[in-house]
Amino acid sequence: MCGIVGYIGSKDCSEVLVSALRKLEYRGYDSAGIAVFEDGKISVKKAQGRLDDLEKKMEYEGRPLGHAGIGHTRWATHGVPSETNSHPHRGGEKVTLVHNGIIENYKELKEMLIESGREFVSETDTEVAAQLLDSNYDGDPVKAIAKTLSQVEGSFALGILFSDRAGEIYAVRRESPLIVGVAEGESFIASDVPAIIKYTKNYYLLEHDEIAKLTEEGVTFCDLQGNPIEKELKVADWNEDAAEKGGYDHFMIKEIHEQPTAVKTTITPRIVEGMPNLEECNITIDALKDINQIYIVACGTAMHAGMVGKYVIEKLAKVPVIVDIASEFRYREPLIHKGDLVIIISQSGETADSLAAMRLAKSMGAQTLGIVNAKGSSIAREADMLIYTHAGPEIAVASTKAYMVQIAVMYLLSFELAFAKGFITDGECCRLTDTLQGIPALIEDTIDKTNDLCHDIAEKLTEAESLLYIGRGLDYALSMEGSLKLKEISYIHSEAYAAGELKHGTISLITEGMPVIAVATQNSLYDKTVSNIKEVRARGAMVVLVCDEKAKVGADVADYIIRVPQTDEVLMPMTAAVPLQLLAYYTSVLRGNDVDKPRNLAKSVTVE
Ligand code: M6R
Repeated sequence: MCGIVGYIGSKDCSEVLVSALRKLEYRGYDSAGIAVFEDGKISVKKAQGRLDDLEKKMEYEGRPLGHAGIGHTRWATHGVPSETNSHPHRGGEKVTLVHNGIIENYKELKEMLIESGREFVSETDTEVAAQLLDSNYDGDPVKAIAKTLSQVEGSFALGILFSDRAGEIYAVRRESPLIVGVAEGESFIASDVPAIIKYTKNYYLLEHDEIAKLTEEGVTFCDLQGNPIEKELKVADWNEDAAEKGGYDHFMIKEIHEQPTAVKTTITPRIVEGMPNLEECNITIDALKDINQIYIVACGTAMHAGMVGKYVIEKLAKVPVIVDIASEFRYREPLIHKGDLVIIISQSGETADSLAAMRLAKSMGAQTLGIVNAKGSSIAREADMLIYTHAGPEIAVASTKAYMVQIAVMYLLSFELAFAKGFITDGECCRLTDTLQGIPALIEDTIDKTNDLCHDIAEKLTEAESLLYIGRGLDYALSMEGSLKLKEISYIHSEAYAAGELKHGTISLITEGMPVIAVATQNSLYDKTVSNIKEVRARGAMVVLVCDEKAKVGADVADYIIRVPQTDEVLMPMTAAVPLQLLAYYTSVLRGNDVDKPRNLAKSVTVE
């Protein structure tokens, strides 16, 4: 995720901007840049790579000296990581800006601007916003910003410099976050509080379509019509360490809350005119038509995302999918044929077993597709085709947001494959894609609605010796992830079981009070799962049922019911995953464990 900062005051602006950007490094980035008013002119410095690369460049070329400017770290979405694509972007003579988010209609706007004679240097949607604003500016910043916002679609936060207004910075946002910090004789903008906490704890939260004007004298706010707005000053009560966690106690819970944004950032650039479009990842409809066998190979949570993918691909696109644990795949002499598609899912892109499995598949003539979060990682570099997930860096060892974006990508791929194979019409494909686009809001809703209940239920789980997670179909795939999440951070043994398989042995484990987490979100399988729940409840199990908000649950079915927002049955894992993550999180917290760094585990497993 990109990071934005801005500063105006008496300090050395370049120094403040780079130091503030360092505090946003956790968001992940592949290039950085600043723009500073120097002797009344805007001086821009950018570099591909890390902030150290930008600093080296400025040591060599000279650092802009001034007291007002904006800065940016870029996590590439439109266009490769490069100096040209990095921010700040000039829109012509009048405007220079930084941007976080996505301008969804940038293609149409770009065509319109090109027709009017404008030329572009980068591949970014940001330059389109800069050029559009530049073309709308005739000396009145608020009018120009308002007109530009009426033309752009998407989610974005912008930090803006107008060449003829050397003592001013402007900021505006829609959906993407932006705060405005204030201190004596200086003010700031930033994507997140950690960037400014060294300088001030006082800040305002900029709301949708509000414009902030920063000068050395202070900050004023107005709406898009120019009407002044009074805002409530907030005071951050965090130290620098807490600020990096966004005020949360742990990275894991912060990352659970980041899921709606992560999903939105991952899917939005891959949807064109309502249809999934993976062309930028070298995946075309024609190529998909020829796929007759898919392998999904991964480890741990990433493998569980693959399990969701298997159910969805087979259901919608009717292509057989084999999911393999990477460490098994590489030694079991898999029957790969030329032209088979082997999908490798990995957050880190460096997991030794997954990387080796991918190399093996390639050597056997398979087409490989990497679904990877870490930019430039080994799997990302070596895969034939690549879909980056845009979760931003995941710090907690227990994967949450990376899983969520991995399954989001599995859905996009399944929809496109089903369409390519002729099993769904373009109308049905658009409907599914549209429903997927509504998921970020539902995830947010699920977190709000289930958080406290999950905390209360976790109190009942802390003393358990062992748990079972049960489900059928997609609910079984999700149960595997729920079970892994719980065991890795709570250190309580748990196992995921296909609900219908219990009676073939495992049900003998059920004793009085044993917790069983039953996931039953699939309408078509609901009654069957309820029968299995009754079997365990009759033997004394304490049942926690995760179901959709509209499910009709009989009085004797569960001890606790966690209801999640309803969506298309096939997409239910995206909301139902949330309470499973929260249950694991709170159980670990209540047991006093090191939630973000569980014992014996590493974030990236680069050894066999
Ligand atoms: O980086 P990867 O996605 O390849 O990592 C694979 C597993 O090690 C990982 O998903 C692990 O299971 C999670 N940390 C569990 O939460």
